Amino acid sequence: MAGGRRAILITGGTSGIGLALVRRLAPRHDLLVAGRRAPDDAAAVLPQGVRYVHAPLTTPEEAVRTVAEAVLKAGWVRLDNAILNAGVGFAVPGGIETAGQIRATLDVNLTASVMLARTLHPWLARAGGTLTLVGSVARRGQGLFPAYAASKAGLHGLARALRSEWRDTVAVQVIHPGPTRTGMHAKAGHDPGRLGAVFLPAGPVAAMIEGAIAARRSPVTVSHGRFVAGGALWSRRL
Ligand SMILES: NC(=O)c1ccc[n+]([C@@H]2O[C@H](COP(=O)([O-])OP(=O)(O)OC[C@H]3O[C@@H](n4cnc5c(N)ncnc54)[C@H](OP(=O)(O)O)[C@@H]3O)[C@@H](O)[C@H]2O)c1
Repeated sequence: MAGGRRAILITGGTSGIGLALVRRLAPRHDLLVAGRRAPDDAAAVLPQGVRYVHAPLTTPEEAVRTVAEAVLKAGWVRLDNAILNAGVGFAVPGGIETAGQIRATLDVNLTASVMLARTLHPWLARAGGTLTLVGSVARRGQGLFPAYAASKAGLHGLARALRSEWRDTVAVQVIHPGPTRTGMHAKAGHDPGRLGAVFLPAGPVAAMIEGAIAARRSPVTVSHGRFVAGGALWSRRL
């Protein structure tokens, strides 16, 4: 892309951390957002000029085909960054999700990421680009969200495997945010109570993620400590 503009795909860019990343990157880069919202609803929140494709990841095969078609339709022969950020979780008392919730969590967070990574590899390789997986500190295991924790642990393993397999073609990284003030907890049916007051806002978390993407480091934990040390103020730009 001329003038340092990058071609960047972001999944789940219509709210929370993903939307904060989109707002940071849109003025300087060419973005394609993939999400579950109808196009009109997505257009209401996305900055002007950002491309959007409706690709619900609960049906990964179909979604991956749709995303690949959208990349082609955008005329992109190379992809500088693919940021696989979309995620869901379900909090249930006792930590036993229904089969449908388990499947949705694993499909959106993990299966779709493996399939997107494989499908997007040729585009990323042509750019010598970077694949970024958004994990979670919950990957270490978290009561109330067992399937979510398992999916994020899976992303960590996926990043390690692809980092080794693709070392000559594409940079691969996994970034694990800590608790962040987004709509995710309410969507998951979880009220963090007074703890929610110390969650980081999405904007600084996106700034630290952008810095980690620019530095191509992996794995990276986006923690409260990093924030207090000025991580959001001094992070590199993509
Ligand atoms: N918030 C936290 O405390 C926290 C901590 C660690 C890691 N993370 C991770 O950070 C990432 C972003 O989360 P967030 O906190 O910004 O939550 P969020 O505000 O709920 O954003 C999640 C995004 O994923 C999209 N999404 C959900 N289900 C989808 C599906 N079936 N198909 C396509 N897109 C789908 C959502 O669409 P809609 O906009 O339509 O809802 C939204 O854009 C996730 O991977 C999450 O696991 C979050």
